[in-house]
Amino acid sequence: VSLKDLNTMAIDVNAKQFVDIENADQLVEALDIAAERQLETLVLGGGSNLVFAGDFDGLVLHIAIRGRRWEKIDGDSAVLALSAGEIWHDAVLYAARSGYRGIENLALIPGTAGAAPVQNIGAYGVELCDTLESVTALDCVSRKVVTLDTEACQFAYRDSFFKRNPGRYIILEIRLRLSRSAPLKLGYRDLQDYLGDTESIELTPLEVAEAVMAVRRRKLPDPDTLPNTGSFFKNPVIGQAQFERLQKSFPDVVFYPLADGVKLAAAWLIDQAGWKGFRNARVGIHNRQALVLINHSHGNGADVLALAEEVRGSVQKKFGVGLEVEPGIVGSY
Ligand code: EPU
Repeated sequence: VSLKDLNTMAIDVNAKQFVDIENADQLVEALDIAAERQLETLVLGGGSNLVFAGDFDGLVLHIAIRGRRWEKIDGDSAVLALSAGEIWHDAVLYAARSGYRGIENLALIPGTAGAAPVQNIGAYGVELCDTLESVTALDCVSRKVVTLDTEACQFAYRDSFFKRNPGRYIILEIRLRLSRSAPLKLGYRDLQDYLGDTESIELTPLEVAEAVMAVRRRKLPDPDTLPNTGSFFKNPVIGQAQFERLQKSFPDVVFYPLADGVKLAAAWLIDQAGWKGFRNARVGIHNRQALVLINHSHGNGADVLALAEEVRGSVQKKFGVGLEVEPGIVGSY
């Protein structure tokens, strides 16, 4: 089975076996079959945060569990439950149109609701963990359906228990705590620049979602025309002392102070190292956002990872800062 249309980097690899999963029972059944045949499994949602390094010699579990419902509407606050296979962006628009706030800044992030907690998706000053109330998942060890609260998910920047322990849980449903009255988060610079003066106008969550969509479309390539996986590296965090040395040599370095260090804009580092707009015959670096790696023409996993390695090496050499790849890498080459 070709997975080319099932990963946003459009890498043309094959899976030995493939199954669409529409409910928890089918999932358990598929896991039993995989165990019996000693097949490795891969849980696939929208395929927007992974790079296939080569063919997958196992069973792909394509999560297509659909459904959304409002739970526990009390006063201003409500819980929106989304099955793992729901399209994330559609859910954002649905919540915003219903007048509920909390995820409008996460508009246009590709992928499914079930994948959102894995990397704790985040954009424009909001992270999924800000509104996530709980996750229902199949525990692959006990084969029981369990509910995990935010603490059990161990969220951090682009990270979670699920990302650190692949294979332990398969997410079936997520629950978001949304509100009609929570303050909108308009502080991220790009969003502020786009919206202009927001002091005197009352914005709806849908208007904020639309602003985020416009801002994203200016910088981030649409995977349907320029295959990509969004940010290819995490923004690196370095210690205060290293930062002060770096800033002395590069006074313009773009950074965000944290409680325990300094986060650097990886896009700035890559841009300054001269990579923005670079391309070879197959792959390249986006010309409007240096953190995005593009598959221009039939690039395979090896092409993508070789370019990533060159970028990493040159940033390490110029700035002494290591970059960590953000999407997951699957298969060997
Ligand atoms: N910059 C450059 N050159 C560029 C692009 C950016 O110098 O080509 C500098 C600018 O100074 C800019 C700064 O880098 O102010 C940060 O850029 P941007 O605001 O575009 O955000 P980012 O840190 O590159 C992160 C997320 C994105 C998310 C945006 C907006 C990560 C790894 N990426 O990018 O998430 O959309 O913030 O919140 O944290 C993703 O994870 O796939 C993703 C797209």
